[in-house]
Amino acid sequence: MMKPYRAGITGTGSFLPEKKLTNSQLESIVETSDEWIVKRTGIRERRILEDFAPLADIAVEASVKAINDAGLSPLDIELIIASTCSPDYLSPSLACMVQGKTGAKNAAAFDVNAACTGFVYALQIGRQFIENGTYKNILIVSAEAMSRVTDFTDRKTCVLFGDGAGAVVLSRVDDGTGIDAAILGAAGENGDVLTIPLLYASDTDIQNRNEGKKQVIWMDGSEVFTFASRIMAEATKNVLNNAGVEMEGIKYIFPHQANMRILQNAAKRLDISMDKIYSNLEYTGNISSASIPVCLDEASNKGLLKKGDKIIIVAFGGGLTYGSALLTWSM
Ligand code: COA
Repeated sequence: MMKPYRAGITGTGSFLPEKKLTNSQLESIVETSDEWIVKRTGIRERRILEDFAPLADIAVEASVKAINDAGLSPLDIELIIASTCSPDYLSPSLACMVQGKTGAKNAAAFDVNAACTGFVYALQIGRQFIENGTYKNILIVSAEAMSRVTDFTDRKTCVLFGDGAGAVVLSRVDDGTGIDAAILGAAGENGDVLTIPLLYASDTDIQNRNEGKKQVIWMDGSEVFTFASRIMAEATKNVLNNAGVEMEGIKYIFPHQANMRILQNAAKRLDISMDKIYSNLEYTGNISSASIPVCLDEASNKGLLKKGDKIIIVAFGGGLTYGSALLTWSM
């Protein structure tokens, strides 16, 4: 049955902090090398939020750009969904901070935490409010200060992550474009392979970390690698099936930017060329849920996307979580 309304992305925005952390700088922090990091991950540098700066500020920068890009004013926004696993505060939510700072006085606001899959979850939640007629314009902003939950004495994780923010405006569209299909999933039984404790930590989680470092990432890299390589391909195939679209019809895949080898692995499983897979992780690192909206904004600004193009976004992350969506580009 045709849905009465469709939800499409009508504006994009992103913001990366100015401060860079290069692989060679990391060589003086932990025992690592530019060569190891590039070979195993594809990452050369990442951006880091200054100590004095709230995450909310870069979330606002990205949000304002997306709202302007959609040709709207903050007062047109009826709901703000923020995704983050590294917020400034548990309360107020990041979404409320963005609402206050942008003057989006007519918007309800809440946060979603699905770790690196957060943007895909937020998009699918926002889509429901548009398709059922509740709202016309929703701001989705994904912002992460991963450097604040990273142990810079743990070489297995500190070389991987970076900070940044990406945002989109999701609006009611009536031209046949917009979100065609989406899949969300979780594998909570394997959640202990990637953790960031907050107010409580299990004995195992305390043992896995350097002493005194409770609120930092710990990860079993090879377990996550195996899950990610499999699920990226599976979630991509399933969303294609749901939408009844063939891979040949897809212009670009925008995957979560964790590791170039995971993207290569997924491309192999999908039997597609890397040309179809958008990537910017070389200079952003893994910015968790912000990675996909930052890529979308970059690709849009580069003129790589035109109205009617079919794209897939696909992510995996802590939880464990995963998700994908197939969109017909609306801008
Ligand atoms: N620099 C140099 N050596 C390092 C290193 C670093 N930064 N990090 C780990 N090593 C070492 C290890 O200690 C190990 O040495 P050992 O054999 O003497 O014990 C060796 O390199 C190989 O480690 P391993 O963990 O097997 O490497 P890998 O090829 O699996 O790559 C990751 C590690 C983390 C890059 C990879 O597992 C990965 O990308 N996993 C997925 C992570 C991810 O995407 N997480 C985010 C999810 S949203």
